[in-house]
Amino acid sequence: MQRAVASKALPRARVVFSGIQPTGVPHLGNYVGALRQWLRLQHQEKPDTKLIYSIVDLHAITVPQNPERLRRHKREALAALLAIGIDPDRCTLFYQSSVGPGALGAHVDSLLHGIRRLPIEDDAVEAPDAQQKLSLSPSSHIEDQPVSSRLKLGLFAYPVLQAADVLVHRATHVPVGHDQAQHLEFARECATNFNHAYGPCLVQPETMIPPVHRIMSLTDPTSKMSKSHKSERSRILITDTPDEIRAKISSALTDSHAGISYDMATRPGISNLLDILSIFDAQQRTPAELANAYSQTHPREFKGMVADSVTQGLHGIRSRFLELLDSDSTYLDYVEAQGARKARENAEETMELVRSAVGL
Ligand code: AMP
Ligand code: TRP
Repeated sequence: MQRAVASKALPRARVVFSGIQPTGVPHLGNYVGALRQWLRLQHQEKPDTKLIYSIVDLHAITVPQNPERLRRHKREALAALLAIGIDPDRCTLFYQSSVGPGALGAHVDSLLHGIRRLPIEDDAVEAPDAQQKLSLSPSSHIEDQPVSSRLKLGLFAYPVLQAADVLVHRATHVPVGHDQAQHLEFARECATNFNHAYGPCLVQPETMIPPVHRIMSLTDPTSKMSKSHKSERSRILITDTPDEIRAKISSALTDSHAGISYDMATRPGISNLLDILSIFDAQQRTPAELANAYSQTHPREFKGMVADSVTQGLHGIRSRFLELLDSDSTYLDYVEAQGARKARENAEETMELVRSAVGL
């Protein structure tokens, strides 16, 4: 019996799974840390690799959300993914909430874990998403009054739901930014625990972390570019106009040294702009190579080059994005329905194995 489960469970081909939260139009950091990998994999993976990309709306509601705004953010995330070139026929592109079995998977996962095993432990609220969502400092303690009053079970369950996402779709590879590595470690543990308890049924996913630096805020280059930063000038959205891109980059915080050099510790602003310049560099030069090539350039002129490069690199995304959102919504509806159907079918295959293994 168990052998039958095991042989069915063996993945025949690679399954790539990743997710992004619908928290507004993605910024350059999201593009480099996540979306560009999604696109690359779409071009590089063999045709039999399943590519499954999820807009994780259930994760978004682990903090209070305005329903109208959430609906808009979901549509914007879908339009942004299509606008950068994700092909909904090649990939399974879907809203997380359209797949029912995630909840059952999460329930089964959660039964297997003591609270101490969660990345959020009771002596420190240390999971990256928890810290960001609750606006906590890394030293926050769970018993601090302002912390405990903001903690909800759903936030503790955040990594559990993420593990369920990955496991229910039988992901073999999960491309994410390095800040997600801890959650993926947890997902692997869930698979091990489940397989140990019920026989080999779930697949252990491998984390794929892009070998690039984090993109930092333009106004404070010692903290990462983020959707939650209050200043809009701190981030470049992938749908910004050329004028917006130029204005944001020309006002980016740098230093008063002459020339260009790459050193995150002493020149974080210029180094971040070198990282940004390397994103769309046609010769694929590293930031250090670019620093060598432009060492004598005046910082103002250098900022102009960075703005040109980003404008060119993002060219077309804005118009496709606006067209998708402006046109009557039939196409987005179609993509949503097709994605939901494919994702449900895929998840249901695993859930059949899980139900049979657990005895449900
Ligand atoms: P988030 O916007 O935090 O939900 O992140 C979505 C994805 O983008 C995750 O895989 C992050 O690791 C990645 N990401 C977010 N901000 C940055 C950044 N500033 N630089 C590089 N990757 C990022
Ligand atoms: N937690 C991820 C983030 O904030 C999003 C996410 C949810 C995800 N489920 C996932 C990423 C599964 C990879 C795989 O970016």
